[in-house]
Amino acid sequence: MRRTLIAYFAVLLAGLSCLALAAETSVSLPAPNAVLFGLHEAPVTVIEPHRSTALKPVEVTYKGFPAVPLLDALLGTQWRSGEALIGFEAKDGYLSMIPAAQLLRYPAYLVYARADGDDFSLETPPLNNRVPLGPWYLVWDNVLHSNLQADGATYWPYQVEKIGLVSAPSKAKLFPAMLPERYRDGAALTEKYCLSCHQVNGVGGRKMPIDLGQWTANQSFARFATWVLDPSGKNPLTAMPPLAPERPASERQLMARQIYGYLRAIGALDK
Ligand code: HEC
Repeated sequence: MRRTLIAYFAVLLAGLSCLALAAETSVSLPAPNAVLFGLHEAPVTVIEPHRSTALKPVEVTYKGFPAVPLLDALLGTQWRSGEALIGFEAKDGYLSMIPAAQLLRYPAYLVYARADGDDFSLETPPLNNRVPLGPWYLVWDNVLHSNLQADGATYWPYQVEKIGLVSAPSKAKLFPAMLPERYRDGAALTEKYCLSCHQVNGVGGRKMPIDLGQWTANQSFARFATWVLDPSGKNPLTAMPPLAPERPASERQLMARQIYGYLRAIGALDK
């Protein structure tokens, strides 16, 4: 009996460690507080992508800390090097993997409250449920850098509890050496738009941890594209967002093709 229990726990532990994908070097964020690591909080005004439309931008001012020095304090400066991906993990398993280069190029802030003291929450589709944004929410200065508005809410993870470096071996699983270079763009798009919830070769989020390579291997582009471009047409209550809704239809089609091409290719390698 004891042996079975031990075996059971071993399996459980193995399961946990492979689920906690960015966990090798992941750390819990400290509780929000006005002074962290000697950094002082500052207000940051953004065009809130979860509430804005192209015709009606909504500005919100949050308070928090610039992400770069906070990451330095939590991860050491090694996160800045090379091709690193920084994982921002939320309570529900959502994992936003953001290239270090993006964080070094554009001003991002980890915020924990609204400057006006209003509720730190958002209404989310499809039912406009109110969800809390805390403990931490990553926002970008898309007022100063208006080109960021084209990415909408991608890279704006909320309910963030942990951050970590996605290790080089994990990253390598997303682009095995056998995969032809022409799939690079598709791989980058998949990382950006899909792996916060889904996985490829065990790498990605846990919100809906299906393996997209395997799923795509037996599916037509048409079926794939309906899911990706119009998920609420498949399931009106789905938690899956449409791919890059801010972008023109022709560009979205092309993005879907590139993602599909990459997923088919990597799915075929598994066999
Ligand atoms: C915010 C999380 C999230 C993101 C980002 C996301 N999905 Fe999903 N996806 C889901 C959820 C949740 C479902 C479960 C189906 C439902 O809600 O009806 C799903 C379902 C699917 C399905 C159908 C699976 C099945 O069993 O029928 C496919 C295919 C899929 N997603 C592909 C993608 C691709 C490709 C991307 C990137 C372009 C993506 N998803 C981005 C959350 C997400």
